Amino acid sequence: MPFYRNYIYPFLVNNLGNPSPIQKIRQKIIPKAQGIVLEIGVGSGANFIHYDPTKVNKLYALEPNLGMIRLAEKQQRKTKLNIEYLDLPGERIPLEDGTMDTVVSTFTLCTIPGIVDAIRGIARVLKPNGKLIFFELGLSPDPEIQRWQKQLEPLHHWLFQGLYLTRDIPALIVQGGFQIEQMEMGYLAQFPKPSSYCWWGTAIARSRQ
Ligand SMILES: C[S@@+](CC[C@H](N)C(=O)[O-])C[C@H]1O[C@@H](n2cnc3c(N)ncnc32)[C@H](O)[C@@H]1O
Repeated sequence: MPFYRNYIYPFLVNNLGNPSPIQKIRQKIIPKAQGIVLEIGVGSGANFIHYDPTKVNKLYALEPNLGMIRLAEKQQRKTKLNIEYLDLPGERIPLEDGTMDTVVSTFTLCTIPGIVDAIRGIARVLKPNGKLIFFELGLSPDPEIQRWQKQLEPLHHWLFQGLYLTRDIPALIVQGGFQIEQMEMGYLAQFPKPSSYCWWGTAIARSRQ
């Protein structure tokens, strides 16, 4: 359904994906990005205004959905960032090995179909000591909420074009060769618990420490 994917889904992400509790965390973690930055699945560009343009030399904004890129271009006008769009999937990052200082993923690892390939690709493009900044939705530690997440996942998967509620993102990041450097977690108010358990923090690729 190209109309849903290119127009309705970007509209939903743009209008539902940035309530105040989420914005506050973006404000806290995105300014940690520095140097040459890759953001995977930039969506409608909700993070753009939170980058510090004095610390970010260039932002590669990877996003395979052209409807999202249209919205992101509007957000770009609010910043002084030097942004280059890459309209390819995050499982095939078209950048050289060891060239990024920071990779950012917010609510993309919980959506991307090939998460293992995406995390491997992130490790590949990061420089030694480069950081992954993440803010992701996923599997609650509470078994009762997990049951609801399993029930509700197919609906979310359809509405939000591939969104998973039951991925254990920190475990997948670690399995992909990273060490979590710093992480916080919790249910973010506003949305019901099954669709609001999040982790946010930073990770470093183990082979590169
Ligand atoms: C829930 S939205 C999050 C958007 C944005 N990062 C944010 O924080 O608001 C998930 C994003 O991942 C993108 N996405 C889906 N599949 C992808 C893939 N294979 N590679 C990269 N991005 C993908 C979607 O197009 C969408 O923009």
